[in-house]
Amino acid sequence: MHLTQTKETLNQLVADLSQLSVVVHQTHWYMRGPEFLHLHPLMDKFMDELNDQLDVVSERLITLDGAPYSTLREFADHTGIEDAPGSWDQSTPERLETLVRDYRYLAGVYQHGIEVSGAEGDDSTQDIFIGFKTAIEKKIWMMQAHLGKAPEIDPE
Ligand SMILES: [Fe+2]
Repeated sequence: MHLTQTKETLNQLVADLSQLSVVVHQTHWYMRGPEFLHLHPLMDKFMDELNDQLDVVSERLITLDGAPYSTLREFADHTGIEDAPGSWDQSTPERLETLVRDYRYLAGVYQHGIEVSGAEGDDSTQDIFIGFKTAIEKKIWMMQAHLGKAPEIDPE
């Protein structure tokens, strides 16, 4: 079997899920304002979901004879998600806007994974990608609702 693109995408997701978990953790720590008591613990749940996805994605890659990134340096070198040092000058809505942008990027990587794993005939990995993309889109909906906006999952 030639699962080159599927395995590349799995490892891309290892880097991106690791990075996004850090960005959510920063949001958890640097949050101030009237939403704090609700959103601070909610960010813990978001992190748990990302870390659960990370473990499944990484172990699927290992199952396919791949080698997941496993150092902070590798995650940082390969992720498509930006980070920035923590600061107190961002509002909570601004932080959520950043998370929505990053979650949309992640959903896009999952969509790419769905397409390449389908083309390469790896139904099992495709099944993982489909379920996880659905879960990420649900979080986009929730954050957008909090911001008073429509989900805009499919803007076409
Ligand atoms: Fe905490």
